[in-house]
Amino acid sequence: MKGIVLAGGSGSRLFPISKVYSKQLMYLYNKPMIYYPLSTLILGGIREILIITTPQDADSFKTLLGDGRSMGLNFQYAVQPKPEGLAQAFTIGKDFVGKDAATLILGDNLFYGNLDFFKNALSSHAVGAKIFGYVVHDPERYGVVEFDNKGKVLSIEEKPVKPRSDYAVPGLYVYDESVVERASALKPSARGEYEITDLNRSYLKDGLLTVQKIGRGVAWLDTGTPHALLEANNFIGSVEQRQGLMIGSIEEAALRSGFVSAEDFMTVINTYPKCDYTTYLRRIHHDVIAGK
Ligand code: TTP
Repeated sequence: MKGIVLAGGSGSRLFPISKVYSKQLMYLYNKPMIYYPLSTLILGGIREILIITTPQDADSFKTLLGDGRSMGLNFQYAVQPKPEGLAQAFTIGKDFVGKDAATLILGDNLFYGNLDFFKNALSSHAVGAKIFGYVVHDPERYGVVEFDNKGKVLSIEEKPVKPRSDYAVPGLYVYDESVVERASALKPSARGEYEITDLNRSYLKDGLLTVQKIGRGVAWLDTGTPHALLEANNFIGSVEQRQGLMIGSIEEAALRSGFVSAEDFMTVINTYPKCDYTTYLRRIHHDVIAGK
């Protein structure tokens, strides 16, 4: 399974904050935003990850994340010349994905809580697409799934004026090996984008789309507006302060997923400056060795 983080976009709702650099490079409490979706993929057991950015910010992302090798990861990079839609991730990532299955996560989406819903989707070998449904109060801002009374998917609509349910589709999608071919066959929508909803519809049409409902115990936040950004900051800060555990550390995720040995982990951490993040990672190293 390959992973893609789509971290381009125009960030127009965050203007003027996003005028100079991408929102995914901004901080969310104590880490760059992209750490959160990246750590979700890593906790799911995905180590080969393509990071798609705007052309102007490509170098900054490379400086931030490198090739991932020191943490047992493999980060590759590609640019999206213009924000022409989420499904373009698979035409840009065509060579990277090759003949493999692929998971896409949006660079401004944050998941917190028990990730079994995601791990189960990754471990099921059924062909097709696996996406998720999450109850929100404002479904009209998202792709919306309609179910029949047996839970079968009837339709998916992108930003409907009159949503047929409260189930929005979060920015996390698990696709089988046919994804590149399907994405390549899409036509731009009326708003000029290669829509992820159209990609999902292509699977639905073939009876190959599964929508797994995510329960209330999982938090899904997106961070596209100034207020959503503030709420996400407060949320992460509150949970981290209370538990003394961090959300979204890619080093911790790599260690817990067994991608890096405890020894190599420490070698990397020893190069970090003295700060709360480093102190935390030393503690995690100690806990993991102690089997906690
Ligand atoms: P959006 O929040 O839908 O779009 P945006 O980031 O351009 O912001 P705005 O609506 O304020 O202009 O994008 C969701 C995520 O997907 C975000 O992480 C950016 C990314 N994205 C791309 O990388 N390329 C694209 O073509 C689009 C549409 C989004």
